[in-house]
Amino acid sequence: METQFRDIVIVKDSVEPIYQQLARYFRQQIESGRLAPGDRLPPSRDLAQQLGIGRISVVNAYAQLQEEGLIASHAGRGTYVTGGRVLPRAHESASRVLTGVPNLPMREMTRLAQQPGVIAFNSGAPPEEFLPVEALRHALNLVLDRDGAAAVAYEEAEGYPPLRAGITEYVSSLGIRCHPDDVLVTGGAQQALDLAVQTLLREGDVLVTGNPTYLGILDIAHIRRVRVVGVPLDAEGLRLEALETALREQRVGLIYTAPTHHNPTGTVMPLHRRRQLLTLAARYGVPILEDAVYHELGYRGAPPPPLKALDEDDLVIHVGGFSKILLPGTRIGYVIAGGTLREQLARVKQAADICTPSLNQRAIHVFLANGMLVGHLNRVRKELRERCAAACTAAQRHLPPGSQWEEPGGGMYLWVRLPDDGPTAAELYVTAVQHGVAYAIGTLFHTDGSGGRHIRLNFAAHPPARIEEGFRRLGAAWHAWQETYAPTVRRAPIL
Ligand SMILES: Cc1ncc(COP(=O)(O)O)c(C=O)c1O
Repeated sequence: METQFRDIVIVKDSVEPIYQQLARYFRQQIESGRLAPGDRLPPSRDLAQQLGIGRISVVNAYAQLQEEGLIASHAGRGTYVTGGRVLPRAHESASRVLTGVPNLPMREMTRLAQQPGVIAFNSGAPPEEFLPVEALRHALNLVLDRDGAAAVAYEEAEGYPPLRAGITEYVSSLGIRCHPDDVLVTGGAQQALDLAVQTLLREGDVLVTGNPTYLGILDIAHIRRVRVVGVPLDAEGLRLEALETALREQRVGLIYTAPTHHNPTGTVMPLHRRRQLLTLAARYGVPILEDAVYHELGYRGAPPPPLKALDEDDLVIHVGGFSKILLPGTRIGYVIAGGTLREQLARVKQAADICTPSLNQRAIHVFLANGMLVGHLNRVRKELRERCAAACTAAQRHLPPGSQWEEPGGGMYLWVRLPDDGPTAAELYVTAVQHGVAYAIGTLFHTDGSGGRHIRLNFAAHPPARIEEGFRRLGAAWHAWQETYAPTVRRAPIL
């Protein structure tokens, strides 16, 4: 049977060649099971016509998929899915086979979401109205008046010393005891994660992460050629029996986890599991990379202390930053690690960019030193609580029956599973944008291509009335898709 591929999105002025976009689309369809062995792909001429692209692009896409063993052509019978791709070895079944550049779909999604009038819930950024621009202006002026040229000169690779001391004091309020020498200031938390991966892992080594997980850690693993093993999550975060299986069966070099207000699920790991995780990591002697960028964004009581605060074996490398809680564009993050590891991280940092801009470090230091951060965070938490409540009410009102989500107690995201009897997140995407709303597709956050029915909505991005309208549009898009396409689309099980 020949399927109508109505959800293909081709971005003609993309940096990704059209044939690769097309190959990526079919690869995802095959790997997610939407296209099964024996299914026929449309003739290249028909597909080119349907998409308004040159036939040669379709021919090239098919050639690439054929080379990968995913499809085969038979003269006179057309092009079929083979299902013949080499599967991961049994002990790697949870791992991601890293093909393609995983962040490209995100970029294309972002471009579509940026069209005028679209209520975009797809980003990972705090909204502009949360950013304290006037206070920043004051801090920058103060720093320039006070420090002059020193504020725009090279800085020590480890960071502006008063900021390192300020971060030490700040994290002590979260329960972390460390010395300013243990703190390395980085270009956002993203660089901190990357430095840790570069320092602790070699090409081909294994990084364990939750599945789903933060997209940025998957990007780093891909670029650094590190193998990713995904461990399932439950309502309390990483499932430890699955983690232990991975630790037993693989030579794991590093465990990445975001235990508090996890992106994308919003999960908070309770104290007892934090302790069990530390015990397990100690038993296998594997360091933990703790990503705490959302730790302070709890609006239903304080979360348990960070892993680093409970760490008695010096196994935890703690990453935090000021993007989600203050000013993302200043790109100030930090990593806390003891002794020689911190020195190694600083060497890799120096090789990457010499130092983090001194002016920005000094401005953030002003926020810490004069208590502005605390007041700002209280306002942000209050606003987030209201936006979260608005999102949950709007989800109840507008999302299709059978949609599932947990109300988060912190962070910026609602993680929704769409009902089984409708479109996947990718199928719905273009219709949603046409209805004026955008979200992030669940598969992007997964290590194994699953999550096709999940969407992540950044409710922090809009005030309550816009959230209500955005969710209304999303519900309308879902129903419109059902009415238009449901009768013609063959349903296959989606993980
Ligand atoms: C879980 C997580 N870690 C790290 C980062 C990167 O933060 P930064 O902007 O400080 O580099 C993000 C940003 O979205 C994130 O969601």
